[in-house]
Amino acid sequence: MEWRIVKDYEELSLMAARFVAAQVKNKPNSVLGLATGSTPIGMYRELTRMVERGELSLQQVVTFNLDEYIGLAPDHPQSYHYYMHHHFFSHVDIPAGQIHLPYVEKGAAQEEDCEACEAYDRMIEEHGGIDLQVLGIGRNGHIGFNEPSISLEVGTHIVTLTEETRQANARFFQRIEEVPTHAVTMGVGSIMKAERILLLASGSDKKEVLARLYAEGVRTELPASLLHVHQDVTVIADREAAAWLPVGESLKG
Ligand code: PGA
Repeated sequence: MEWRIVKDYEELSLMAARFVAAQVKNKPNSVLGLATGSTPIGMYRELTRMVERGELSLQQVVTFNLDEYIGLAPDHPQSYHYYMHHHFFSHVDIPAGQIHLPYVEKGAAQEEDCEACEAYDRMIEEHGGIDLQVLGIGRNGHIGFNEPSISLEVGTHIVTLTEETRQANARFFQRIEEVPTHAVTMGVGSIMKAERILLLASGSDKKEVLARLYAEGVRTELPASLLHVHQDVTVIADREAAAWLPVGESLKG
């Protein structure tokens, strides 16, 4: 796991965008695993600028998003479909047919039986798997919506969101009751099978979980800790998120 500590959110966004752009320049038909949340918004903004300036083309890229709430229509402002179109897809040149997000109708699937989930995994496999997976990290260590648990699921699946995650995401809704209770998420299998992983963390809210990620061994109660056994993970954190890391001051920039 390679750690890069940058000054602030602006630097994090630029470094993350350059990381993704380098991947695409190296392999124009890259399969990108994409994340939502507040953290990657700046990265999407910087990538958009690169495309607008003619420095980068995403025309051959294929994307698979990590997760989506269940119970929000794709045009709901808090759905991840809406987020991705608003922050990224509507501004760049990825053909619509190459964009994929998981979607499960409310009531259409049970936790133990999700055809749409299996179809999503098959589609990722048919595209040869993910070349670069972008991840955020929850304050409880979740990646995607793979929540701390005594076991983790390999494939795309339906999850009951933890109270902590619902509380953390309530800031985007008017009331906590509006935050969906369920979501669909890629499992840790597709994430761990990605050739390369880029994990982003910004702000003091993340300093505790990053310190745990740095110090703790692999355990399902800290889903992000699985990344310790992946061969190519880069973490970009800003100074606030890195505040509790016992790494040399030189790394902190
Ligand atoms: P955030 O979410 O970027 O909004 O902090 C990250 C996550 O929960 O994975």
